[in-house]
Amino acid sequence: MQDVTLLHGDGIGPEVIAATLKVLDAAGAQIRWHDFKAGQEAVDAGNDFLPKAMLESIAETGVCLKGPITTPIGGGFPSVNVALRKRFDLYANLRPVYNLPNVPSRFQDVDLVVVRENTEGLYSGIEHEVVPGVVESLKIASEKACRRIAHFAFEYARRHGRKRVHAIHKANIMKLTDGLFLRCAREAAQEYPDIQYGEAIVDNACMQLVMKPHQFDVLVLENLYGDILSDLCAGLVGGLGLVAGANLGEKHAIFEAVHGSAPDIAGRGVANPTAVMMAAEMLLRHIQQPEAAERLRQALLAVYRAGEHLTRDVGGTANTAEFTEAVLRALPQ
Ligand code: NAI
Repeated sequence: MQDVTLLHGDGIGPEVIAATLKVLDAAGAQIRWHDFKAGQEAVDAGNDFLPKAMLESIAETGVCLKGPITTPIGGGFPSVNVALRKRFDLYANLRPVYNLPNVPSRFQDVDLVVVRENTEGLYSGIEHEVVPGVVESLKIASEKACRRIAHFAFEYARRHGRKRVHAIHKANIMKLTDGLFLRCAREAAQEYPDIQYGEAIVDNACMQLVMKPHQFDVLVLENLYGDILSDLCAGLVGGLGLVAGANLGEKHAIFEAVHGSAPDIAGRGVANPTAVMMAAEMLLRHIQQPEAAERLRQALLAVYRAGEHLTRDVGGTANTAEFTEAVLRALPQ
């Protein structure tokens, strides 16, 4: 039995997490959950936006499954997501992107992995007003963080039989920050002669991705470019309901969907829980429960292959409950 911290999240979070818990249970996952609230829900209950007990739980269990959490725009408390990543030094955000059967999408056979630096860049949140009417936001890049994310990307490529790593940057304009990122990627590439190395300027990378995504395999990016290109890549394979992410540090890991709390469809029972289920699959592999992970994966694939109970975001008519029932029925015994 593995202890895992659970955050249900906001908006569609509780809906997709509840669906995922049912499937995990039926797949034979051996998990003891430790439930917590964070963000607005915690504030409404009179707590801090990052409750101390929740942080202690993640520190102890080392593993968390997290629903999406709303971040107030232009004021209010800071992003829970960014705070957790910084707090536990979850420096690598790993997002595999691949097509599922029967999902309408612009391309087939896309299979790439986004590796996003998760702790610095413009997400350092160091902003101030210089004089009235002029504000400044600092983009932080440290050699340590650039090196470790570059090594992570190459090491991941080697371990998972991937052929190529592309560093995505804007070092022509941000000569110091992105320049450092690129130098560290080039240095890491020297240590992995078995992996091909390529570079692309971020604007060109966007164009290349929407025209010829198959040329990419593993992408390594600083924080903001990684955030933006992850959603772009999700769009290549049918949308945000289908892509999961792992936030990984030396000692802790938080698994979640790439998507947010989707306030536009929250409470209607129509959200696609696939991304959180895929995040749960990654979690199961991380906690060394590969049999349950494989059962979950096979069930998801079977439901998509059959194509009869898909949710609206991918062209179907099923609601969250109907999709979840289909996954439960498809679980191998
Ligand atoms: P979003 O990802 O929540 O939604 C974008 C669009 O995709 C919406 O039309 C939504 O209905 C659709 N969508 C997303 N997930 C879906 C799913 N599972 N099934 C069906 N359709 C889905 O992005 P948005 O609207 O920009 O952000 C909403 C809130 O979520 C914001 O407060 C943002 O800060 C937060 N957020 C949180 C994240 C996290 O907790 N890791 C990640 C991204 C955003």
